[in-house]
Amino acid sequence: MNHTSRVTLTVNGESRDLDIDNRTTLLDALREHLHLTGTKKGCDHGQCGACTVMVDGRRINACLTLAVMHEGGEITTIEGLGQPGNLHPMQAAFVKHDGFQCGYCTPGQICSSVAVLEEIRANIPSHVTKDLNAPAQLTAVEVRERMSGNLCRCGAYSNIVDAIADVGGLTA
Ligand code: FES
Ligand code: FES
Repeated sequence: MNHTSRVTLTVNGESRDLDIDNRTTLLDALREHLHLTGTKKGCDHGQCGACTVMVDGRRINACLTLAVMHEGGEITTIEGLGQPGNLHPMQAAFVKHDGFQCGYCTPGQICSSVAVLEEIRANIPSHVTKDLNAPAQLTAVEVRERMSGNLCRCGAYSNIVDAIADVGGLTA
């Protein structure tokens, strides 16, 4: 029985072929096989959000999904959002607002933050959205709810909200 597969992923715009054990998570494929260590392993159990990346434009916990499930998928990691000297606006806002201390949760926080703004633009409601018929609003309450899957042991939460507000333009 064959326990390995050939998987082709587009990672940060580049096509990458991997021959991997079928049980390899997307997180381990990125970190251990492609050496993209910006994406962090916190809990490896879907509880902390440190491993958040974008797959086909949607955020996902990379520790909870197998790489083989994403054949042909487009993956964006923190390295793909921006680099020193050419930061994504959200990366720059986290620096400006001190949205981190140790930085371990930060790649996941930033990937989630970018996705949150996309979700609001796409009018996707959250658990705290009151009026499902009105356009989704970027409020502090919405940001806190939508970012609740990303834990920060350093407690940089209020500065993270400030960074997201700066990029997205808070409405209340
Ligand atoms: S490492 Fe994936 S959610 Fe914690
Ligand atoms: S900055 Fe340290 S865990 Fe968030």
